[in-house]
Amino acid sequence: MRDRIRELVEKVKNELVEMRHHFHAHPEPSFEEYETTKFIANKLKEYGVDDIRVGCGGKEAGVIATIRGKSEKPMIALRADIDALRMAEENESLPYRSKNEGVMHACGHDAHTAVLLATAKVLSQIKEELPGSVRLIFQPAEENAAGAKEIIKAGGLDGVDAIAGLHVWAYYPSGVVGFRKGPFFAAVDMIELYVRGKGGHGAAPQFAVDPIVIASNIILALQTIVSREVDPIEPAVVSICKIEGGTAFNIIPEEVKLVGTIRTFSPQTRERVVSRVEEIATNVAKAMRGSVKFVDYYSTPALINDSKFTEFASNIAKELYGENNVVEADLNMGGEDFSLYLEKVPGTFFLLGTGNKEKGTDKPHHNPNFNVDDDALPRGVELLVNIAYEFLRRGSS
Ligand code: NI
Repeated sequence: MRDRIRELVEKVKNELVEMRHHFHAHPEPSFEEYETTKFIANKLKEYGVDDIRVGCGGKEAGVIATIRGKSEKPMIALRADIDALRMAEENESLPYRSKNEGVMHACGHDAHTAVLLATAKVLSQIKEELPGSVRLIFQPAEENAAGAKEIIKAGGLDGVDAIAGLHVWAYYPSGVVGFRKGPFFAAVDMIELYVRGKGGHGAAPQFAVDPIVIASNIILALQTIVSREVDPIEPAVVSICKIEGGTAFNIIPEEVKLVGTIRTFSPQTRERVVSRVEEIATNVAKAMRGSVKFVDYYSTPALINDSKFTEFASNIAKELYGENNVVEADLNMGGEDFSLYLEKVPGTFFLLGTGNKEKGTDKPHHNPNFNVDDDALPRGVELLVNIAYEFLRRGSS
C-alpha cells in the first residue's frame, strides 16, 4: 500500500501546489472563510467524497466531510485550519501574493488546506480498500481560537476514534517532521481588564484618582508572578500587550484598559497564575484608591498529544523518511485550538518543516514576508494518508 500511496501522492502534486497558490492569493480572515469554504466543498465533490457538510457556528465557513471506506468504523479525523491573518503581505514579487488587501496567509494555513484536500483526493482513490472511514475537518477561525469548539458543537468529532493534524514549520528545514509526546502547545488565557479611577485635571492630582499610575503599578506587579511565584522549571508567561487610556496632556482619565495574555502548561500553574493576576490587579488598585473590573476572558487549554498515537505516527514518518528527518519538537508557548479535539479523542498534532533559505521560506510565522516551500507539502499528504490508513487497518494506534 505504501508504494501505491506514494504513486498517488506523486500524481496529486501539481494540483496540490496550484491549490496552495490559489488559497494564498485569496486569503480570508477568521470566520469569514466563505470563498475558501466553497472552493473546498467543490473540490471534495469532484473527488467523490461521500458526506459534505458546509458551515459551523451559524456561518457558512468550514467543512466537515466523511470518506466512507469498507466500513463505518473505526474512524479517524484529519484536520486543517483554513483562516488567514489581518496583515498586509510584503511578498511583492510573488506571482500568487494576496489579492485581498490587508489579509494574508502568513501562518501557512493555505498549505494546510491544500494538503488536506490532496489527502482527501488520495484517500478517495483508495476508498475501496479503506478498512474504516476518514472524517475531514476544514476548520475556520483557528487564529482567534474560535473555530475548534464550533466544529465540535457541529458534530465534527461524532463517531471519531482518533485525530491527526499538522502545522507547517518555517523553523525546520524543508521536509523534516517534528513530533512531541504529551504537552506541546501552551494553554492560552486572554485577560482584559479596566482600571477605574476618578478623572480630573492633570495639574490637580489631589482631586483625582489616577488610573494611569494604578495601571502602571499593576503591570509591574503582574511581572512578579512568573519571577517570584511560579516554579522556575515550570514554563509560564504573563504579558500585557495593550494599554488604552487618556485623551489629552492635561486630563487624568477615568479609566485605563489593559489587555494581555497568560501562557502556561500544567493545570495547577495555570490556575495559580490566572487567579493571582486577578488578585494582584484588584488589590493594587484598591491600595491606590481605585478599582478593577475584569470584563472579557477566554481560554484554550494546553495541547497534549497522546503518547501512544504520537509514537505510532512518528514511527510511520521514520519508516518513510528515515530517522534523520524526524525530530523531537520543542515545547511551544504559542496556542493551538487543536487542543480541544485532543481533549475528546486521542491523537497527535505534528510539525512539517517548510524552511528553505534559498527560496526565502525561512521567515517566521506571522511575518509579512512569510511563505511556504511547496516541495515539502507532498510529505504532509503522504504522512496523513499513511497515518489514516495504518490506524484504520490496525483498528488502533
Ligand atoms: Ni497557524
